[in-house]
Formats: sequence, structure tokens, C-alpha cells
Amino acid sequence: MRILTGLQPSGKLHVGNYFGAMEPAVRLQDEGEAFYFIANYHAMTTVKNPDELRSFTRELAIDFLAAGLDPKRSTFFLQSAVPEVNELAWILSNVCPVSQLEKAHSYKDKIAHGFSPHHGLFAYPILMAADILLYDSNCVPVGKDQKQHLEITRDLAGKINEAYGEGTLVVPEPMIREATAVVPGLDGQKMSKSYGNTLPLFAEEGEAKKLIMKKLVTDATALEAPKPKENSTLLALYRLMANDEQVAAMEADYDRGGIGYGDFKKRLLEAYEARFEPMRVRRAELLADPGFVDQVLAQGAEKARAAAAPVIDRVRKAVGLA
Ligand code: TYM
Repeated sequence: MRILTGLQPSGKLHVGNYFGAMEPAVRLQDEGEAFYFIANYHAMTTVKNPDELRSFTRELAIDFLAAGLDPKRSTFFLQSAVPEVNELAWILSNVCPVSQLEKAHSYKDKIAHGFSPHHGLFAYPILMAADILLYDSNCVPVGKDQKQHLEITRDLAGKINEAYGEGTLVVPEPMIREATAVVPGLDGQKMSKSYGNTLPLFAEEGEAKKLIMKKLVTDATALEAPKPKENSTLLALYRLMANDEQVAAMEADYDRGGIGYGDFKKRLLEAYEARFEPMRVRRAELLADPGFVDQVLAQGAEKARAAAAPVIDRVRKAVGLA
């Protein structure tokens, strides 16, 4: 089984990225052949400054390695190291109805948030389909916001197979875990860079404390009263970061009443710090060893090119380019 996922280097990673995609990706490293990449072509749709794109790319590489991506077990590479992905995207473009792209939620959402609708943004799902299909991927761990993109991918693969012969492309399955499909942000909406409601995976000193204590939403239930557990963003985040015993204790304290949200927020902060401390240590080591990261990405690029070559050859032959 080939497992593949990508993350955009478009800013600091947040705990939504971690629980939605990185943590499952790290766990799946033992389940099959893992291909994980940094979607730097995709990031160009929003990151316009070249120095910024380079530094976000590097930081993402370090952060994903710190989060447990093991280059011995996984192929880790930059999307741009295999430019054939653009060729496959072009081929897919010719079976993709414009109406399908016009209906893409992420496109409509970006427009609603004031992004100018350039072609890169519009064609984004086709390039993402090419990312997945170029490596004959079977399983794609992602958060729920990518579900529609996976549907488009499956649809385009089906169209190519119908037009040019079954087996031209492998039709992938998304892997979306219910518990982490939509990690809420500090304001209770989906955690997202574009909503400004993120809790960073690697916060600066004091930053997480400030965000949790000052920005995380809670309701106005009186201190003595039991706290409602449904729709509690605080509890939802705690469930992701604390162990079962701690979660059971917090839930019991919610039911009992008499404890204020300030106390629960402190517990969330402690769980956050404990959960990510080992990764923070690893990250500091990686930051001190830039050569290692370069070497990992260079080796990953080789392996990714080798995996993509037979697929693009197969497709070229099928469509009449070879
Ligand atoms: P990106 O960079 O926006 O997000 C990376 C991953 O994080 C997940 N995610 C979340 N999961 C749960 N709750 C949240 N609040 C949350 N926010 C983000 C996303 O679902 C994603 O899995 N289009 C992709 C990048 C991409 C890709 C691919 C992914 C390009 N090509 C091929 C898979 C396969 C994206 O924008 O992810």
C-alpha cells in the first residue's frame, strides 16, 4: 500500500495540521510505503515572496521531521523536485470540467476571504490530484477540509481510466479520522491560518499561554455551575492532547461544577506543553543541523522521481504522447 500526503508551506504549522494529517501520517509509516511532501507549488497560490516561500518550506521540513517523520521509513520530498507533476496536471486538465472547479469549496472560500481569483487558485485541485495520482497512491491521510479535493481526484482518475484504459491511474482512498477530521480553532470555528484562530504546533515562548488564556473561547457559565461538554472547544482540544485519565477527570469536573474555565485552560496548556515537548527538543536539534535536512530532501527527491517515472511513462503512452 502506498500512503501519500502533502502540506503547504504557507505559514506556521498548527495543531489542526498535526492532528488532522501529520500525526496519522507518522503512524502510517509502518503500514506501507509512505510518500510525504511539501506542497511548495501549491503554496505559490498565496505566498508571493520568494524568501518567505523558501523559509516556510525549510521550517515545514524541520517541523515535520520533528513531529516524527522518519526519513528511513518514508520518502520525504519537495513537490517541486518532481516537476512531472505539472505534466500530469495538464493531462488531467483535459478531462476536468470547469464547472467542477467552480464548485470547489476551498476556491469559493478563498474568494470569499478576498483572494484574487487567479488561475493557480482555480486549478489547485487538479495539481493536487496530480500529486496523488503521480505516485499510484492508495491511501491519503488528510483533514476533512480536503475531502472534496479527494473526490475530485478520484473522479479525474476514473475519467482518465474510462477514456484511456482501466489501470492507467490508481484510484486512491482518502483517510479521514472522525476524531480529528476538523480540529477547532481558538474561536471555535475550524482551525485555519486564514481565520487567524490557530494554536501553533511550535509556539514561541509564552505564546501558547497567551493564546489559550486570552483567546480561547469559553461560554459564560457561572463558576459554581456544571459546564456544558458539548461544543466545548477547550474540551475538544484537551481530548486531543491529554491522556484518557486526564480527560476523564476534566469531564467529571465539567459535570460537577465549582471549577472555573481558567483552571481548565491551565490544564490544557500543561497538556499542550507535555504533548509537544519531545518534538520541541528534536526540533532544536534539527535547527542546529541544516545539512541533515538538505540531505533528507535530496534523497527523498531521488526516491520520489524514481517512483513517479513509471507512472508518467504509463500515462504518456496511454494518452498518445509517447
Ligand atoms: P494544508 O497545508 O492546508 O493542510 C495540511 C493538512 O492539515 C489538515 N488540516 C486540518 N485537519 C483537521 N483540522 C483542521 N482544523 C485542519 N486544518 C488543516 C488538512 O486537511 C491537510 O490534510 N491541499 C492540501 C495540501 C496538498 C495535499 C496534496 C494533501 C497538496 N497536495 C496531496 C494531500 C495530498 C492543503 O492545503 O493542506
